[in-house]
Amino acid sequence: MEIHTASKGLRGEIQIPGDKSISHRSVMFGALAKGTTEISHFLQGADCLSTIGCFQEMGIEIENTKEKIIVHGKGLHGLTAPSRTLDVGNSGTTTRLISGILSGQAFASTLSGDASLNSRPMNRIMEPLKMMGADIQSKYLNGCAPLLINTQLPTGKRPALTGIHYHSQVASAQVKSALLLAGLYAEGTTTVTEPNLSRNHTELMLNEFGAQVTTSLNPDNSAVISISPCEELYGHAIVVPGDISSAAYFIAAGLLVPNSELLIQNVGINPTRAGILKVCEAMGANITYLNPHTGNGEPTSDLLIKTSSLHGTTIEGALISTLIDEIPMIAVMAAFAEGTTIIKDAAELKVKETDRIWTTTEGLKSLGADVTPTEDGMIIHGGNPIHGGVVNSYLDHRIAMAFAIAGLAAEGTTTILDSQCVDVSYPDFFQTLEKIQG
Ligand code: S3P
Repeated sequence: MEIHTASKGLRGEIQIPGDKSISHRSVMFGALAKGTTEISHFLQGADCLSTIGCFQEMGIEIENTKEKIIVHGKGLHGLTAPSRTLDVGNSGTTTRLISGILSGQAFASTLSGDASLNSRPMNRIMEPLKMMGADIQSKYLNGCAPLLINTQLPTGKRPALTGIHYHSQVASAQVKSALLLAGLYAEGTTTVTEPNLSRNHTELMLNEFGAQVTTSLNPDNSAVISISPCEELYGHAIVVPGDISSAAYFIAAGLLVPNSELLIQNVGINPTRAGILKVCEAMGANITYLNPHTGNGEPTSDLLIKTSSLHGTTIEGALISTLIDEIPMIAVMAAFAEGTTIIKDAAELKVKETDRIWTTTEGLKSLGADVTPTEDGMIIHGGNPIHGGVVNSYLDHRIAMAFAIAGLAAEGTTTILDSQCVDVSYPDFFQTLEKIQG
């Protein structure tokens, strides 16, 4: 895909597709609930379609009318054994959350994805799930998918899981959610302590479906989340808010491209996700919040974005988990900003769809930015002229989109290689980009 300088500025009102994390969870919990779950504004991206495919393969009827997803849940014990390997595609969320669910089922299953997914670390969920008594192994004993679950369990026997108190080293919603979901099938309470509260969509939505999940925050910022087993979950109507991780590209575009004014409607601004808005504020961004609203426990707002002169900032500590997926975009903004931006405490970037410390800094260098990768982040000295160039997405959707936005504000033409990977989370990304260029 070739991107040209947006010399006329960006204008218009845009609707952002549904939140990826919430879309995944609505299908998963709907499948485990009794009754019907109707999901509006579901993200029709490849990752969420992988989740739908997995549950269809386990006997759940899911209608996809594009307008709505209707999940005909069969209750906590209603899944049936898949007849083939569950294909999780590129999706870490599908893999890790479903592993928690599958650990509690009375049947064996195998999960496998694409090359990127099958090289991502799964010990972070396998170890604590095993502590709960789960039978989960890495097929090639390398800590990665394919994962074999309940393959040693006698046929038809329900696994005996026990609640544990797990102290997670990373603030990871995927780890936390895998354990809470296994906790639905365990004897006693399952508790996860994380260094700071990671995205809490699982907790909010499970409670809406009738589970009992509690959260408490300690003075040192760590979060303690507990679940007790429940008899059943019950289907619920879900309206998925716009994904702030997808909105991030258009927030950055509106800020960076001269003469721009964009209204981005209905963006989820859950505080466990909205770190990018804090960073934008710290960088001097002109953003107005309009029409605040809350649905299914998730706060949303329209965001009015106007071109701004940005300056550097430091991003670290508990803020990182609230913006981890937005770091490639933030790094691009930093390259256009005055002064230095330091990103640290973000070693998790290395285990995303690509090693995003490497892919982000490589991309920035090819456009002329002054950037140095570090062990747990990067240092960007803004102010170098940013010019067009060729950026390899390495099939990482967030790298493709962040550098497409860089291309709008750069001098000359920018080519994004393998740009179709945006389908993972934002199939209409390039159409929306075109629309706002008038
Ligand atoms: C997600 C959690 C985050 C995030 C991912 C989606 C989720 O991963 O990066 O894109 O939906 O739970 P970690 O939990 O590994 O930080």
